[in-house]
Amino acid sequence: MAKILVTGGCGYIGSHTIVDLLDNGFSVISIDNLVNSTEASLAGVEAITGVKVKNYTVDLCDRPALEKVFKEHPDIAGVIHFAALKLVGESVQQPLRYYKNNVLGLLNLLELMQEAGIAPLIFSSSCSVYGNATELPVTEDTPRLAAESPYARTKQMGEDILQDIARVDPSFKIVLLRYFNPAGAHESALLGEAPSNPASNLVPVITEAAAGKRPELVVFGTDYPTRDGSCIRDYIHVMDLAAAHTQALQYILEGRQEANCEIFNLGIGEGVSVLEAVAAFERVAGVRPPYRLGPRRPGDVVAIYANYARAANRLGWQPRRSIDDIMRTAWAWEQARS
Ligand code: NAD
Ligand code: WQD
Repeated sequence: MAKILVTGGCGYIGSHTIVDLLDNGFSVISIDNLVNSTEASLAGVEAITGVKVKNYTVDLCDRPALEKVFKEHPDIAGVIHFAALKLVGESVQQPLRYYKNNVLGLLNLLELMQEAGIAPLIFSSSCSVYGNATELPVTEDTPRLAAESPYARTKQMGEDILQDIARVDPSFKIVLLRYFNPAGAHESALLGEAPSNPASNLVPVITEAAAGKRPELVVFGTDYPTRDGSCIRDYIHVMDLAAAHTQALQYILEGRQEANCEIFNLGIGEGVSVLEAVAAFERVAGVRPPYRLGPRRPGDVVAIYANYARAANRLGWQPRRSIDDIMRTAWAWEQARS
């Protein structure tokens, strides 16, 4: 049983990925300082899998504390690095905090991996590295444009740091995964998105509005040059995303990499508008979330969706779930946790 270190393992995507790793025979330890999560997510993981995963409540910026975890586990076979601050708006207000957390955390991790001789690393990147992309769908070769926020810039910097290191240290085996818009929850409704910060992404805002936990959803902009005037995104189910991490890890461990630092887009390859997402929710939940049409949100790109052919060809990965599955599982989770 290969032991995988998951940073940010108590967070949304990290906890769902742990379920998939355990289902595929990996053992897992987590490092998470709980800045945007609680260990309740690992209780959810245990309820689903029967496995209790240990979390070290350590800040990746605290190098001595991080080093202690590496010393305690000399048998780590690979690292999946989710831990980061991720709120775009907050990053505009607190750029220094974002650069420090997301960049220093990565640098500490890389130094300790190097010292311990651990090669496989999967890094959470984001479609936000493309900026305001002009060609759609975006492929991994679509040029990265200027980042729209300090958050997005930390992801571009993370990618650049990893590419630079991979160039001079061929012993590193790195995969950069560019997620589009992750959403939805585990089928069991025992695990889902439970951030400590108030939710701001579309799907949790829809489910919270439908559940009466917030007064309404505001649709940000209806005058965009799209089929219904609202923005278009590529919503990917969190369990499909989780599976991609396991497959990327197997890809590295089985020596199938074409280069020692590769990039993969992870989306479903289809654009869904905000109004279509609301309609999908209403269709599967049978509840109309209270919503009103509002002004544009500054910084939003008009439309972005992925070409994921490279992940399909090299990793053998396919997204299996639709926007309806996203809404159904997100709604079941919203109801289960209230
Ligand atoms: P999340 O906030 O739910 O999970 C991140 C976890 O990392 C949290 O539990 C947080 O407590 C922890 N963390 C943050 N800084 C830390 C530090 N310095 N030391 C230790 N732990 C720390 O976010 P998520 O949605 O699960 O995102 C996971 C990763 O995927 C992040 O890197 C994020 O930037 C990236 N990503 C997310 C999305 C999205 O929309 N959710 C899209 C693209 C990329
Ligand atoms: C989706 C659509 C909004 C809330 C963000 C980050 C990106 C990546 C994924 C991390 C947009 C609209 C939303 C609401 C709305 N994260 N919306 N009313 O902005 O596409 O991407 O998460 O890497 O970097 O920027 O996601 O869920 O906030 O918005 O109308 O209350 O829903 O305008 O069109 P976004 P989102």
